[in-house]
Amino acid sequence: MDYSAIEAEIRELASERQAVILAHNYQRPEVQDVADYRGDSLGLSQRAARSPARMIVFCGVDFMAETAAILAPERKVVIPEPRAGCPMAAMVDVEGLLALKAEHPGAAVVSYVNTTAAVKAVSDICCTSANVVRVIQSIPAGRKIIFTPDCNLGSWAAKKSGRELILWPGFCPTHDLITVQDVLKAKTEHPQAKVVVHPECRPEVTAMADAVESTSGMIRFCREDSGGEFLIGTELGMIYRLSKDIPEKRFYPVTDVSVCPNMKLTTLDKVLRALKNESPVVSVPEDVRERAMYAVQRMIEVNP
Ligand code: 13P
Ligand code: SF4
Repeated sequence: MDYSAIEAEIRELASERQAVILAHNYQRPEVQDVADYRGDSLGLSQRAARSPARMIVFCGVDFMAETAAILAPERKVVIPEPRAGCPMAAMVDVEGLLALKAEHPGAAVVSYVNTTAAVKAVSDICCTSANVVRVIQSIPAGRKIIFTPDCNLGSWAAKKSGRELILWPGFCPTHDLITVQDVLKAKTEHPQAKVVVHPECRPEVTAMADAVESTSGMIRFCREDSGGEFLIGTELGMIYRLSKDIPEKRFYPVTDVSVCPNMKLTTLDKVLRALKNESPVVSVPEDVRERAMYAVQRMIEVNP
């Protein structure tokens, strides 16, 4: 499919409206191609915080756009597809988290950025898959830690940091689809390939991997590693990103069923419409934003 006409229209309008287009690594190829920046959750929130643009067009899921709105309240943040949510983020709510906090007085709450602004607002610090171990290590030894919502990321980070975590039972339905059998089958098909997976995968899958990385960490690892072939265990969009960034190497999905339907809802038509209408706008009530900002800002300080 030829997207050149709509791409040109989007780029022209973006410069006219002083907009920056940010796209997560799982977005459709044509959406990644039209963006100013592509990246993982951490990289995109850092871009949003630093961007001098008047408007941020966020191609991803809603918690990511919300994080941009938390960090850049003076800029307009628009999301081309407001129905693009993250089912894992929906697995934790403020009421439940406050009840767990009451059971563990004094515990620090570390929340994955895959949470609503309201949950961030009752958390002590946020993390992403790129900095989770550093964030946990920043909490004084001896203090209890509640980790929410991803129990797979949490158990991997507990193992890496040597800290005990009180885990919330959330998980990513897309990464949950990747099984040990898929890895074994893929390895017989590509015996030379190294296995690189996302920490949202099940513990038995991360245990089989040569490397466990955030989406941008995967790009760095595969570029620097001496290997020429990799089996990738994460959302399927990552294969496009890796193949584009490192064309001299080969990338195969561990399974091709690991698709995040929400990430695929954003299309070029919707990006164009969002730019033209400067909507739908993502906003966070100021009292929630200020408290959520504290947790996000603390994360950025640990990982500037
Ligand atoms: P990254 O921060 O590694 O890009 O992951 C975000 C996400 O939603 C993974 O499912
Ligand atoms: Fe949420 Fe999983 Fe989709 Fe990431 S891949 S946005 S964690 S549902």
